[in-house]
Amino acid sequence: MRIKNARFVVSNSRVAQCPNTALPEFAFIGRSNVGKSSLINMLTNRKRLAKTSGKPGKTQLINHFLINESWHLVDLPGYGYARVSKKDKKEFQQYIRDYFNERKQLVNAFVLIDIRLDPQPIDLAFMEWMGTQQIPFSIIFTKADKLSARTIEPTVTKYLNTLLEDAWEEAPLHFVTSSTSRIGQDAVLAYIEKLL
Ligand code: GTP
Ligand code: MG
Repeated sequence: MRIKNARFVVSNSRVAQCPNTALPEFAFIGRSNVGKSSLINMLTNRKRLAKTSGKPGKTQLINHFLINESWHLVDLPGYGYARVSKKDKKEFQQYIRDYFNERKQLVNAFVLIDIRLDPQPIDLAFMEWMGTQQIPFSIIFTKADKLSARTIEPTVTKYLNTLLEDAWEEAPLHFVTSSTSRIGQDAVLAYIEKLL
């Protein structure tokens, strides 16, 4: 898919205020600092469409972007941001749950995972919650440029095996990406196009 145009529409803290259109949408979610906003910029070939930051907690709202005048891409705040108490670290914010439970336009969510990290309890809990809510999602491994090419595949396999041992019968569809080296752009866009 070619991205001909991409523009910011609106930011909201509540799902009820999100754009009232029937356009299909795709959401990007994951821990704070995993690279959601950077990935959105990479996918759309825009440098500053979504705001990025070296400090976690940059994206605080539900942000809608209109792509090719025909679908929405949604940048969500990270979960597991360390400013909350230790107990709450394993929780994800209520409005993230509300978004996924209520947003009928959602076609697929992409759960972003930092490829360098061992499986984190909060990510496993989040994917399990998505499964119980029957919300379709795929995994996007981010920051693949931080690993050597030959360690990418075994790292991904190890991660997916953890999911299979944990709660999953089948590993979710997954993509390997880097916002700096741009790997994965074609594969993710082709998948979105297929679902549209
Ligand atoms: P929040 O909005 O705080 O939840 O974070 P986010 O998930 O949107 O992350 P963001 O895109 O702001 O990126 C966080 C940091 O990771 C920034 O310093 C980025 O430059 C860096 N980063 C993101 N993607 C990549 C990548 O593919 N490779 C490398 N090397 N760095 C990346
Ligand atoms: Mg962000």
